[in-house]
This record gives sequence, C-alpha cells and structure tokens, in this order.
Amino acid sequence: MARVCVVGLGYVGLPIAAVLSSAGHSVIGVDTNPRVLEALARGCTIIREPGLDTLVAQGVASGRLVACARPQPAEAFILAVPTPVRGLANKRADLRFVAAAAESVAPVLKRGNLVILESTSPPGTTAEVVGPILERGSGLQAGQGFLLAHCPERILPGNVLHELVHNDRVIGGVDRASAETARDLYASFVQGEVFLTDATTAELVKLMENTYRDVNIALANEFALVARHLGVNAWEAIELANRHPRVQILRPGPGVGGHCIAVDPWFVVGAAPRFTPLITASRAVNDAMPLHVADLVADVLGGLAGRRIVTLGMTYKANVDDTRESPAAEVVEHLQHAGAEVRLHDAMVAADLSVEELAVGADCLVLLVDHQAYADLDPSMLAPLVRRLEVVDTRNFLSVERWTEAGFRLTRLGDGRRRAAIPGVGAPA
Ligand SMILES: NC(=O)c1ccc[n+]([C@@H]2O[C@H](COP(=O)([O-])OP(=O)(O)OC[C@H]3O[C@@H](n4cnc5c(N)ncnc54)[C@H](O)[C@@H]3O)[C@@H](O)[C@H]2O)c1
Repeated sequence: MARVCVVGLGYVGLPIAAVLSSAGHSVIGVDTNPRVLEALARGCTIIREPGLDTLVAQGVASGRLVACARPQPAEAFILAVPTPVRGLANKRADLRFVAAAAESVAPVLKRGNLVILESTSPPGTTAEVVGPILERGSGLQAGQGFLLAHCPERILPGNVLHELVHNDRVIGGVDRASAETARDLYASFVQGEVFLTDATTAELVKLMENTYRDVNIALANEFALVARHLGVNAWEAIELANRHPRVQILRPGPGVGGHCIAVDPWFVVGAAPRFTPLITASRAVNDAMPLHVADLVADVLGGLAGRRIVTLGMTYKANVDDTRESPAAEVVEHLQHAGAEVRLHDAMVAADLSVEELAVGADCLVLLVDHQAYADLDPSMLAPLVRRLEVVDTRNFLSVERWTEAGFRLTRLGDGRRRAAIPGVGAPA
C-alpha cells in the first residue's frame, strides 16, 4: 500500500481520498480552504454526496485519512484542483490552481514519485505546464526522475462512489512507465477497465466526452426552438427520433451549467480556435437558453414587469446541491432584469420557506431543475394559493395530467402544441 497525497479535496478529490483510504492506502488530504480541512479533521465533509460522509468518517477513524494544509512527502500525488474558465465571450482556461498545486508539491517531490493530474485540463497541460513546474521545483526530470500522468475523472455527482470504482478509466503518461505506475495505483480500487495512452491524448479524450454532450444538448435545444416555432412538441419528437437505433439526442433544457460540460469545450476551442466553429456555436446556443426561458415566461404572462414568479431549482442539474455555473441563476437574473419579483426555491439547498409558502400570490411557477422532490409537489394544494394558474416546465418533468387537472395551464419548453399533450403519447408526462 502506498502513501498518497491528494491535493484539492472538492467534489473529485475528497471521494478519491476516501476511496484510496478504504482500499488500504495511507492518504494525506490537502486543501487551501480551512473549512474543508477542519471538517476533514473531524471526519466530516462540507459536500453532499451519498455515502461520502460515512467513508470519510471511516477513513479518518482508521487513521489512514488525515488533513494537512500543505503537501507532505508521499509516493504518489494526485492533483484535483479546479480548472475554471476566464473571460466573457471566448473563454480561456484558468490554470492558476493547477500551477499552484504543482508548485506546492514540487518541494516534497522525491525520485521515483508519481504525480497524477486529475483536473480536467487543456491538451498539453500535464506535459507542458505541470511537468516543467515540478521539474523546476524539484530538480528532477519528468519521466526520468519522477513519473507524471493524467487520469481524467468521469464521475457523475450523486453517484460518485459507485462510478469511481466501476467506470472505465483512461490514463495518459508522459512515458510508458508513468502510465503503468499510475495504472497500478488505480487498479487498487478501480473495477472498470483501464486504458493507457499518452498524457495529451488522455486530456483530449476527457474534453471530447464533455464536448460531445454539450454539442448534443445544443442540438436538442435548437430542436426545442424549432419545434415550438413549428407547433410541434420537441420532447415527443426527440423521443420518437431516438427510436432510431443509431440516434441518441439528449434532452433540451434551460441551459448547460456546472463546472464541466459548460466549461470543457472552451479548452478545445482555446487549443484550436480555427478548427472549432461547431463547438463555439454550440456553446452560444446553450448560453442563449436562459434568455429564451425568460422570454417564454414573458410570453406566458404577457410581460414580466411586476409579475411574481416562483422558480423551482437553482442547482446546475437535478438531485445535487451544487449551484456553480447554474443556468437557473441566469434565468432568474433575466426575469429580475425585466422587472419580475422572483422567489427562489431549491429542494436540494436548505430553504427558509416551502414552495407552498413562496407560491402565495404568485403569477407563475417555473421549474428549472428536475429535482425528484418536485415530482411530489401537489398542484391541488398550490392552486388555491397562487394568483394565476400558470406553470412553465423547462425539463418536461411535471405531470401534465396532475397539473392540468388542478386547473393549471402548463407550458413546456420546446412544446409548440396549443393543446395539452395527449396522455400516454410521446415523452413521459
Ligand atoms: N465535480 C465533478 O463532477 C467533476 C467531474 C469530472 C472532472 N472534474 C474536474 O475535477 C477538477 C476538480 O473539480 P471539483 O469539482 O472537485 O472542484 P472543487 O471546487 O469541488 O474542489 C477543488 C478543491 O481544490 C481546492 N484547492 C484549490 N486550489 C488548491 C491548491 N493550490 N492546493 C490545494 N487545494 C486547492 C479548493 O479549495 C477546493 O476544495 C476540475 O478540473 C473539474 O473540472 C470535476
């Protein structure tokens, strides 16, 4: 078993640290945020992820998972720090956290140690950014003095502990020995298949995965706009198109958020701007969706000024508590900018008031995130409370039958049909 230092204990780093400790490794968890370190020292987490609390508590109780403000000598170092984008129109990778993490590891790096970059990064970051920083700080050479690899993360928030173990992994080394040594470390807890390649290919593979999803969602969003224009229900049309054995169109929605799918395509664009018009256009389509949703609500209400609107969901996707880069926040901004009074609710984030309390006197409820809890909303309880019986569903999530039976007029993003959907036909209501 190895001594492993995990630098960055967020949504990616902390689960890895916990899983490594449960696989028997001795893990030093490093973070620059004192709140994260204090929580870890007590065996707790500040992240909501099923099963993580228990695993972290077990790791800390066993003595195999400890919190530290700075990297300590170890056989392996895993960097799992943020890689956001900077800029407004054409966004660029901000590698300051990666650089700082590498700087902090360099002084304790010894001959034969392994460094793995887990952060999603622009092509070339491992070999051309992390490698040189470590070389300068340690006096050792990447691939000769120390081993260096990229192992991108594919976890799905909400199902992290299962996916960390069961997903297939791609590991790219700056040389063969680096890739193989990294594979040996991951083999101690990964049950999926592990594929070896070079570091830059591994970086591009991860970016391709998220870019594929972003472009596919942009296509679904464009279809949603087209369908509404044509008086067609996009949800039904997409479901029927997906019955083709080689077609898999994703779901439209109020935009793409989070720190991965909305961010990573920019790393590809930044690396090859001349060759990425499709990726750039897809980003623009998805970025325009929050404004489209605000326009849709304005259509439904005949204007937004002075309207009282309750938004359901503030996170970047369903059933997680992460509100970073959420398109829901942009929808709210557009509504407020147009003069609406917006009351926010999120079933996954601690709230002072219930939906029922917020709905009193509302002109419209707008579902922005399909948290499972919203399936249990009782429209017949809400109907007597609101001022107008309007509901806008951007995720095709609410039951048309239940809401229309309670008297609401339900408008769906991407549904251009004037009459209510035929129950049992098309996408599930
Ligand atoms: N969250 C996901 O679902 C997911 C999935 C796949 C890939 N990724 C990628 O993994 C990387 C990490 O993402 P995340 O969601 O865990 O981020 P996060 O913001 O949740 O966590 C990052 C942690 O790193 C810490 N940190 C920042 N700079 C540091 C430094 N110099 N030294 C030590 N700690 C430092 C922060 O305080 C924070 O706790 C990103 O590149 C992201 O794109 C994330």
